[in-house]
Parts: sequence; structure tokens; C-alpha cells
Amino acid sequence: MENFPIVLALLRASVRDKSSTVVQHAERLREALQKAGASDEAQAITDVLDSSRKSGTGKLVPSRVVRSRFVSSGEMMTPNTSPPVDKETSAPLAEIFFSDHFEGLAPPILNARLERAIDHLQEQWVGAAELQAAGIKIPRTALFFGPPGTGKTRLALWAASKLGLPVVLARLDGLTSSYLGTTARNIRALFDFANRYQCLLLLDEFDGIAKLRDDPQELGEVKRVVNAVLQAIDARAPLGLTIAITNHEALLDPAVWRRFDARIEIGLPDAIARQQIIERYTEGFAVTPGAAKVLTWLTEGYSGSDIETMCDFIKRHMTLRAGQKPSVIDSVQLFLDLSATNNSSAAREAISRGDSSWMHQVLTYKDVKIVQSDIAEATLSTQSKVSRRLKSAERA
Ligand SMILES: Nc1ncnc2c1ncn2[C@@H]1O[C@H](COP(=O)(O)OP(=O)(O)O)[C@@H](O)[C@H]1O
Ligand SMILES: [Mg+2]
Repeated sequence: MENFPIVLALLRASVRDKSSTVVQHAERLREALQKAGASDEAQAITDVLDSSRKSGTGKLVPSRVVRSRFVSSGEMMTPNTSPPVDKETSAPLAEIFFSDHFEGLAPPILNARLERAIDHLQEQWVGAAELQAAGIKIPRTALFFGPPGTGKTRLALWAASKLGLPVVLARLDGLTSSYLGTTARNIRALFDFANRYQCLLLLDEFDGIAKLRDDPQELGEVKRVVNAVLQAIDARAPLGLTIAITNHEALLDPAVWRRFDARIEIGLPDAIARQQIIERYTEGFAVTPGAAKVLTWLTEGYSGSDIETMCDFIKRHMTLRAGQKPSVIDSVQLFLDLSATNNSSAAREAISRGDSSWMHQVLTYKDVKIVQSDIAEATLSTQSKVSRRLKSAERA
């Protein structure tokens, strides 16, 4: 029903006065909606009436499904809804995830400032019905950008699950064909599909489109494809939420940036976030708080995904070698040897070599206060032994 948010807002305002006529008419409207098959809306009216009876304040408590309807309009998807496909290859252009798919999915752990920004965005989406009823615009398109493995995709999936919306997930690099005509057609099919249903459209690897620009021969055509995507995003805005994600923001030109109502940088986790990520992924294992602090120091420059990989390794190693009681540092040493990267730090190299110079560095770490007993926990040693090792390293 069009303008339903306004009806709800009117109703909410009027039931506050406890006028029995208003309640009567509201019940009539509810019945009419129910008959017309608009059960979500009917339920929303029931909720308003119930809450006004219970609390006497008439505070709007829309049900989850109805709430999401105002951030995304259209038909409801069912498990039988099949995603759009490429006409020639029949390859699906998107994956569909229902919110029960994400049950129990924990949100990524983010830096505090970022978390505040995300909370606020989510708040606007949850409160969309009220904001729109008051004539206030809400952000409908968001761009998440930042290094790989920082939790961008997970964040978007989690946001959708909180809103009770299914996700239409398309990887734009997979959508582009060497035939630009096909690419344009796929993009149209994708957006037509997303616009038809209540959903969150997630455009992952969004730079897949922009990257095409590298080929000078195709420049004109590619520009047209990029513009088609941008127009499709604009046209979709009144209908539903769109989140685009990229690891390569440098590839996006300013016109693309400006198109998004919200632009959120998901950077590498800071020390506080890293410590929490480590705690999450080592839960239930013999990684003491002191050892977790040492790992926090060690993982500077790591993404959330890198940290998860390291924690998985530590857990595997500790389980397989349970009899030998390896320390966290024993595990990490092996991990570093088996996963050499190009972002190695002096500290990580020292640990991997097995010399104790890293212990000095750890103690002067600014972001987290680390003391000798923390090193003792990480190495399954005692503070006095750590102290002796530090002294002998100094002399050497
Ligand atoms: N900040 C984080 N907190 C917790 N886990 C994270 C974080 N960042 C990444 N991860 C883990 O790494 C996985 C991959 O992250 P993903 O969302 O795909 O990153 P991106 O989309 O930024 O490349 C996540 O599913 C999660 O298990
Ligand atoms: Mg991703």
C-alpha cells in the first residue's frame, strides 16, 4: 500500500488520545488490509493498537518484517525465487540469502568510531518508516571500502539480517563479460530483479566495473556501462537499499563516489579491535589474556580475516600437540614459518627466528600496555625467567 508509513504515523499520533473512534477506524482499515492480503500492514496496525493499549503511549513498535518494508518495497521472496541468470551461459547473476541463513552470525568487530557510524546508519534504516513518514530522507545507498579481509562483506550481510531482509549478492566482476552488450544486459537483469523484491542489493567487488576502464580501446563503451550502473543505482534508490563494496577504492572515480549517500571506510582493525577479534576467535582455548595482548601487538597491520586465520592455526596446533603443551608463541612461530607474507614486520621476523629481541619491543608497545608477566603467559614461562632472558639479550 502506497504511503502506508504516513497512515501509520497518523494512527500513532491519534491513538495517543485514546479516541475510540480512531481505534474503530483503525480496526476497519486493518480488516480491509487483511482482506486485500496485505497482512504485514495489518500486523503493523495491530502492533500500534496493542502497544497503545499496553503502554498508553502509543509508541510505534512495528514488527520486523514491516519495518524492513519501508527500506525496501516490492514482493516478498520465497525459497522458490530463483536468481536472474545470464541469458547465454545460464550462469546465475546473483546469489540469494535469506536472513535465517545468517542466524547467529556475529557482526565484525570494528574500530570504535566506525562502529558508531555503522550503528547510526543501521538506526536510520530501522527507523526508516518514522523518518519517511516525517518527510525525512534516509540514506539508501552505501559504499563500504577498505583493505581486503576487514569484514566489509560480513558487515553488509549482518546489517541485512538485522533488518530481516534477504540479500541479493552480486559480484560485479563476475557480471562483466568481454562483450559489453552482455554486461549491460546483465546489469539491467540484476537490477530489475532486485527492484522487484524486498531485499538488500549487495554489489560486491564493485570495482569490477570500474576496472574495465583500464583498456583504452574500450573506454567509450565502458564509460557507458559504468554510467548504466550508476543510473540503475539512482533509479533503485526509492525502492530499496543498495550496498556496494570495494577493496580498490582508488579505481572508482569521483562521479561514482558522489553517487552514494553514505561512504564508509572499513580500515584495518586498531589494537582494541584486534584484541577483541583475538578473544573471539580463541574463545575456549588456552590463550590467556596476557598471551592475547602479545598477539594484539604481533598482529599490527593484520586484517580481521588474517587474525582469524592465525587463530585457527593456533587452535589446530594446540589441539594436535596437546600432549606437548605448546605455548602461544610456539604456535605463532610455526604459523609465521608456514605463512610467510610480504607484510612481515621486524617483530614477526624476530619471533620466527626464535631470538628474544621481540620481548623488548613488546614491552614498549604504545597501543596496549604489555608487561613481563604477559610475555610469560605467551611463552608458558615465568616472569623471572622472562626477566633473565631480557637481561641476557641486553648483554648480547
Ligand atoms: N573486523 C572483523 N571482526 C571479526 N571477524 C572478521 C573481521 N574482519 C574479517 N573477519 C573475518 O574474516 C572473514 C572475511 O571477511 P570479509 O567480510 O569477507 O572481508 P572483506 O569483505 O572486507 O574482504 C569474515 O567472515 C570474518 O570471519
Ligand atoms: Mg568482501
